[in-house]
Amino acid sequence: MRRPVSVAPPKGKLGVLTPGMGAVGTTFMAGVELVRRKESLPVGSLTQMGTVRLGKRTDNRVPKIKDFVPLAELDNLVFGGWDVFPDDAYEAASKAGVLDAKDLAKAQKFLKNIKPMKAAFDQTYVKNLHGTNIKKGKTKFDLAEQLREDIRDFKKKNKLDRLVMVWCASTEVFLKPEDVHKDLASFEKGMKANHPAIAPSMLYAYAAISEGVPFANGAPNLTVDIPALESFAKDQHVPIGGKDFKTGQTLMKTVLAPGFKARMLGLNGWFSTNILGNRDGEVLEDPGSFKTKEESKLGALEYILQPNLYPDLYGKIHHKVRINYYPPRGDNKEGWDNIDIFGWLGYPMQIKVDFLCRDSILAAPIVLDLALFFDLAQRAGMRGIQEWLSFYFKSPMCAKELYPEHDLFIQLMKLKNTLRWMMGEELITHLGAEYYD
Ligand SMILES: NC(=O)c1ccc[n+]([C@@H]2O[C@H](COP(=O)([O-])OP(=O)(O)OC[C@H]3O[C@@H](n4cnc5c(N)ncnc54)[C@H](O)[C@@H]3O)[C@@H](O)[C@H]2O)c1
Repeated sequence: MRRPVSVAPPKGKLGVLTPGMGAVGTTFMAGVELVRRKESLPVGSLTQMGTVRLGKRTDNRVPKIKDFVPLAELDNLVFGGWDVFPDDAYEAASKAGVLDAKDLAKAQKFLKNIKPMKAAFDQTYVKNLHGTNIKKGKTKFDLAEQLREDIRDFKKKNKLDRLVMVWCASTEVFLKPEDVHKDLASFEKGMKANHPAIAPSMLYAYAAISEGVPFANGAPNLTVDIPALESFAKDQHVPIGGKDFKTGQTLMKTVLAPGFKARMLGLNGWFSTNILGNRDGEVLEDPGSFKTKEESKLGALEYILQPNLYPDLYGKIHHKVRINYYPPRGDNKEGWDNIDIFGWLGYPMQIKVDFLCRDSILAAPIVLDLALFFDLAQRAGMRGIQEWLSFYFKSPMCAKELYPEHDLFIQLMKLKNTLRWMMGEELITHLGAEYYD
């Protein structure tokens, strides 16, 4: 990839479209509104609160990221979305039960105006959902065309300059790449023939790319992670990325595991279990959707610990992940980890983590950062997979010949170096030999 010669300024309004206006989607929208009105701080958002060091440690140049790269202003964001339920964003957020009534009341008028467009949905792919706000169409291709029309109408109606799309809808059943995903011609033929390996999320991704709209996938579905859409995105000059917002337990895993490896501490096993009572938890009760999530959650350790390089330390790991739907908890998940490690001479130790987290509170700032960074990437002329945004994903997409980078700290360094590179600043290697000349 060549370094961008210049980054186009973020003029005008940016539309942020979310397929899925459930817990995450509405917590994101309500949160941005509260931040815009100076009612709250954008905690958890790197684009809003993070800094980037430039030059030498003695230079004292540490601007905020949003002052260093030309990001869209929060005041210029306009929200829209699709959902299988007809509830407006206020009703949906009230039902999701993430934000308390006091916060919701402050954003009520704003949220009431965000009404979901009819979804491209098929229950074959999300078993535990029964909605009514659904598009009709003879073929999957027809549905994709309708989504394209929605995008164009939304842009026109709201007088937008640009758009991004972030998938915040339910986890679909597990699908593997097949021949129908191999190139655009097969994929388009497949949509017209209602091929079963083409899931609704792929129709949204196809529609977005066709309309020149960057697409980020917040769920573990295959979606845009197929050769047909990858090459289509490149041809259309559209940035894409995924999969699955990195929050909660996996975030912790990608913080702790690099620490064990850094100190050459061994690992025998990692048992992770969760109780979760929101609609996401209900959807994940279905074994098909759970399988998709499980694959996404299991990958991280293997890639971070590299058992092939360190067979004595990580060659025999038992890694288990469980998610239990438990309605009383709502969105306030509890994730337990039992980690069996070993140290000097093989002596065993245990670590227990009990994370009482709020899923959507962790996910909402990720949606914001992805929307802003994908828009930035497009204005910088970057296209196809945006591996530098792996920081935000449980199961990051990367070039075919690479393995994904899961270590949160490497991901952050890569992200910040990409921003420096984009803006023509020197990359930071942390060598620092010059301070001791
Ligand atoms: N909250 C987190 O921390 C977190 C982390 C990683 C990934 N995710 C993923 O983000 C997604 C959203 O999570 P959530 O907690 O908001 O779930 P949710 O169930 O509250 O919301 C998802 C919404 O998507 C809608 N939907 C399903 N299929 C659709 C389709 N084809 N088109 C339009 N709308 C559709 C549902 O009706 C629902 O309202 C899930 O896939 C979840 O696995 C969440």
